[in-house]
Amino acid sequence: MSTDISASPSQYDRNTILLHGLTAAIVIYQFLSAELWDYFSRLEKNFLIISHMSLGFLLAVLLTIRIIWRYRFGIRILATAPSLFDQGAGALHILLYALLVLQMPLGFCTRWTDNQPLNVFGLLISSPIGVCTKSTGHLVDQIHDINAWIIIGLVGIHAAAALVHYYFWHDEVLQRMLPGLRKSQRASL
Ligand code: HEM
Ligand code: HEM
Repeated sequence: MSTDISASPSQYDRNTILLHGLTAAIVIYQFLSAELWDYFSRLEKNFLIISHMSLGFLLAVLLTIRIIWRYRFGIRILATAPSLFDQGAGALHILLYALLVLQMPLGFCTRWTDNQPLNVFGLLISSPIGVCTKSTGHLVDQIHDINAWIIIGLVGIHAAAALVHYYFWHDEVLQRMLPGLRKSQRASL
């Protein structure tokens, strides 16, 4: 992979934009599938759980590529004179990355501490951690669940901030990640 030198520094490169979109779509799917599978019949619930594990594995791969890309090749947009708001946004991005990274081993262990193999697109990956008690399984499950809610809460703040930039401050922050978007117009009175 090579750096997209055609991108202007006021816009993220194509790979960063693609990785951001894919990560966002999978994270949202992970949350919705897990919160909704109890409302489905056994067969559909099984499908949702297996797709959750399979896409979870894919997310772990994408996240690794994304972090390497960000620090090694991708365009990073830094404010020249960072305001408190910019610093807050930067801290939120780092926190999001950290919690997403933590969610990966927690997801794997949620299954393994239930003494079941991970099912990744039909491939069964057995537990490398031996037999666990019911209470260990329950604890890991709870931590994975709580972390999921924190991630979704932060994503909500993050997406709301991006929309405030676009609709209220009329700057180009959202277009840096969604370059196809029309320039935000101030409403004329
Ligand atoms: C699950 C969903 C999402 C996750 C996990 C996520 C995560 C991230 C992360 C970690 C960054 C920092 C990029 C970097 O510097 O490497 C970022 C940037 C950005 N995201 Fe998201 N994002 C999500 C959804 C969204 C949504 C729905 C929007 C739009 C409404 C959005 C708009 C943006 C924008 C505009 C930036 C660039 C901010 C800047 O340049 O300061 N994101 N996102
Ligand atoms: C940001 C990513 C993720 C989110 C938001 C998420 C969210 C959730 C939530 C909310 C639950 C339900 C917990 C409960 O009700 O107690 C769950 C369960 C689970 N997750 Fe995740 N998860 C993510 C990533 C992963 C990954 C990477 C894996 C592993 C590949 C994984 C594997 C599992 C398993 C095995 C369960 C339990 C399924 C069952 O009940 O049999 N998750 N997840």
